[in-house]
Amino acid sequence: MAELLKGKRGLITGIANDRSIAWGIAEAMKAEGAELAFGVQMDVFGEKVKPLAANMGVDLVLDYNVQDDASTQAAFDTLADKWGGLDFAVHAIAYSDKSELTGRFINTSRENFKSSLEISAYSFIDMAKKAEPLMKDGGTLITLTYQGSRKATPWYNVMGVAKAALESAVVYLANDLGPQKIRVNAISPGPMKTLSGAAIGGARKTFRFTEANTPLRANATKASIGGTAVYLASDYGECTTGETIMVDGGLHILGLPQPENF
Ligand SMILES: NC(=O)c1ccc[n+]([C@@H]2O[C@H](COP(=O)([O-])OP(=O)(O)OC[C@H]3O[C@@H](n4cnc5c(N)ncnc54)[C@H](O)[C@@H]3O)[C@@H](O)[C@H]2O)c1
Repeated sequence: MAELLKGKRGLITGIANDRSIAWGIAEAMKAEGAELAFGVQMDVFGEKVKPLAANMGVDLVLDYNVQDDASTQAAFDTLADKWGGLDFAVHAIAYSDKSELTGRFINTSRENFKSSLEISAYSFIDMAKKAEPLMKDGGTLITLTYQGSRKATPWYNVMGVAKAALESAVVYLANDLGPQKIRVNAISPGPMKTLSGAAIGGARKTFRFTEANTPLRANATKASIGGTAVYLASDYGECTTGETIMVDGGLHILGLPQPENF
């Protein structure tokens, strides 16, 4: 490895287990020399993530529940105390009531709309606000999105609206934070076999369909998403901000499935 992130310190959120996209990002960033801290929904995934962190040599495993300001503030306070600064933060967090990730979008409830957008989109704005004072020499903020933000995608429903809000937040945050050399970008993978991915109706069908129809005839991998995050957090990404980078085998360029699958 070229150690593209040597000397950089960053917070990675959204690890539930070793199938999480955030775990793939952590592996890639660690391999490139970054020093990492994990922000984990401790009451739900703490027992799963602690041994993974120990194996990777990550000592700072902090509670990070985006619905609890005290938890997220304490995480950033600890980083300020231990590191005195921060070079990057990864937001790989989303949640919606599973019962609304199937059927018709029109049936979205007010309650689930509010909590899905709070957890999946507002939490990135909150992360940026809390990270800003620590990024005194500039930095990088990365979030994860999905093309269901722009195109009606079966069963993605309210998560599509949440991802649209998230992608819009990326450009507003990039503009706010640009003068401080803090870059803000999103990575948009195709469907992945993760806990959250499995919560979306028809997940297996979607996965098989996209694998058979992308120009590359392949879905994204954790390594390909991790590599994109490494690029964004490295000095090679210094002129990229406000962007949503597609890592989906080319799925988003298609108008129709491949002829062999009609
Ligand atoms: N799996 C896919 O097909 C896919 C495709 C494109 C984008 N994404 C996005 O990637 C990101 C990571 O998802 P994943 O697929 O790795 O699934 P995952 O289930 O492994 O990760 C989702 C994470 O969200 C966290 N989370 C949920 N509610 C939270 C809260 N209140 N506070 C703090 N954390 C909370 C969970 O702890 C979990 O670690 C999500 O934003 C997801 O929408 C996933």
